[in-house]
Amino acid sequence: MHPRSLILLAVLAASACGPSSTVDEGTGVIQELDTSEAGITAFVREGRYKDWLAEPGVHETRAPHGSKVRVYFNDTAVQSLRAGNATHPVGSILVKELYESDGKTLRGHALDVKIAEGTGKDTWLFYEGFGPEYASNYYGRGHSTCHGCHASGRDYVTTALP
Ligand code: HEC
Repeated sequence: MHPRSLILLAVLAASACGPSSTVDEGTGVIQELDTSEAGITAFVREGRYKDWLAEPGVHETRAPHGSKVRVYFNDTAVQSLRAGNATHPVGSILVKELYESDGKTLRGHALDVKIAEGTGKDTWLFYEGFGPEYASNYYGRGHSTCHGCHASGRDYVTTALP
């Protein structure tokens, strides 16, 4: 096995245990997104997804224990969803803003990025973090906390294009 694969396996084993802060799955830069945990944290904090296609407004989440949300889609995800693809191409990125019940105060972000062609949870990198520190985030390829609910979507995407 290539040494880089061994490192990746070690990181996967470590990240499967739960939230952590500076993990890097080693998937590099995808569509200008540095997919390390620190890279995604910077990306969402700086709102670098804000000019993407978005749901028209903040709304109640369909997920339990959530509050209010708004989902954003990058161009790759938009084109793939529009085409009705069964699996989305590498570089599809979706961001969910997580709000307090007032629907105005931003608490954090969830993000999925498609990192490998094909099917299955391991073709996605999942991230969720809360401000102001974004110190104990969920981060990982096929993350165990995330893929279950998302398996009911089309290639793990559950939100329809606005
Ligand atoms: C209890 C079920 C559930 C779990 C667990 C879950 N999600 Fe979701 N997720 C949803 C639902 C439902 C939506 C649709 C938007 C909404 O109603 O909140 C969603 C939407 C999203 C979106 C917007 C794109 C899409 O697929 O609709 C992202 C990004 C996302 N979730 C990331 C995550 C991450 C990262 C985790 C793990 C930390 C996670 N989710 C865990 C239910 C879940």
